[in-house]
Amino acid sequence: MNRLNFIEAYKDKNVYITGITGFKGGWLALMLHYLGANVSGIGLEPDQDDGIFYHGKINEIANVTIGDITANANVSKLIPSLIEANPDYIIHMAAQPIVSEGYKDPFNTFHTNIMGTVMLHEIIRGLRLPASCEDLRNGFSKKLDEHNISCKRVSVVNVTTDKVYKEIDRPLKESDEMFGFDPYSLSKTCSDMISTCYRNALNSPHYISTVRAGNVIGGGDMAPNRIIPDIVRATEAGELVEIRSPYSVRPYQHVFDALSAYLLVGMLQRRNPIYQGEYNVGPDPHQTMETYELVEKMKQHLNFNWKNTGKSIGKESNYLALDNHKIKSIGWRPAYANNDEVVKAVSEWYNKATQGKNMQKFTLNQIKEAFESYEK
Ligand SMILES: NC(=O)c1ccc[n+]([C@@H]2O[C@H](COP(=O)([O-])OP(=O)(O)OC[C@H]3O[C@@H](n4cnc5c(N)ncnc54)[C@H](O)[C@@H]3O)[C@@H](O)[C@H]2O)c1
Repeated sequence: MNRLNFIEAYKDKNVYITGITGFKGGWLALMLHYLGANVSGIGLEPDQDDGIFYHGKINEIANVTIGDITANANVSKLIPSLIEANPDYIIHMAAQPIVSEGYKDPFNTFHTNIMGTVMLHEIIRGLRLPASCEDLRNGFSKKLDEHNISCKRVSVVNVTTDKVYKEIDRPLKESDEMFGFDPYSLSKTCSDMISTCYRNALNSPHYISTVRAGNVIGGGDMAPNRIIPDIVRATEAGELVEIRSPYSVRPYQHVFDALSAYLLVGMLQRRNPIYQGEYNVGPDPHQTMETYELVEKMKQHLNFNWKNTGKSIGKESNYLALDNHKIKSIGWRPAYANNDEVVKAVSEWYNKATQGKNMQKFTLNQIKEAFESYEK
């Protein structure tokens, strides 16, 4: 894996990101901008005005549509923006991504994460544009098959999660049994399997893979009920950081390292369909950390104290680690050598943002350094 391969694959290519207004979406837009791609995408209006979408000035470097991917086809913003984007690649990240929110609002979590994925795959089957959901239900794509409408072959990566698996106390392999326990996890299990179904059973004309990432940390995440944003908010307010399960083990990784895996899979499957499939991406199992270890590492850079609340948001796994052999076998490797480097990069981001620095410039510089690290 090297920077020049990425540039060769993505420079001047049209890349469409669902969830572009979110944390990973913002980082991915900046990474693709760095690689010279034409970036566009869709997302809901950002919830926060202090996240990466705002700090990274994503509107300046990408063509952003505000819209709901599950909207009925006759009012869909997804369809016209996809047509305008004419994508070579689609990275599908739009989702309700918070476990605790899934417990509070299972309907919206299932609807967005499952039907959003169905909607996207239906729309891109030959850019066959259904007039309404009714058309989708009535087998619209089949009718178009009969008319043999051809389409551009798009490289699609569906971004799912380590939570798609049934809980097992060892690093999870791609072939392990899939079963998300809570609404968020189960909705992502479904989304993941739906993409595989469009590839295998429905013979979608596109290249389709799913990538299952562990917990991602990086600058500009301000989502509720996530460890880093919780630390940053409490630090700013001078409050104790409340940690609900400090001894749970998670595959924490830098956001760049997860996103580089999406780009790698997207690039390789477009070159050779044999690379289509399901991939885990996460740190080596020996680098997984208990949450309190991450918190203690953050304390070396930010000024806060924490307490164990033991408060439960519903059942969550105690141990999550990913077997990353498969993604490594196709050339992926992390840009950050160890957890200390990851935490340093993340804390530096928030410290610079607090100092009022130009965070688009700073983030692009972190991206440049991360890509350049492959050459070392
Ligand atoms: N952050 C992590 O640790 C992590 C780990 C594994 C997988 N993931 C997955 O990565 C993806 C991105 O997560 P994130 O951390 O950036 O979350 P985020 O909340 O910051 O971003 C979610 C994005 O999806 C968009 N979205 C939600 N509902 C939508 C809808 N109905 N129509 C259009 N857009 C909609 C939001 O507007 C936002 O742009 C998600 O699919 C999530 O499940 C995240």
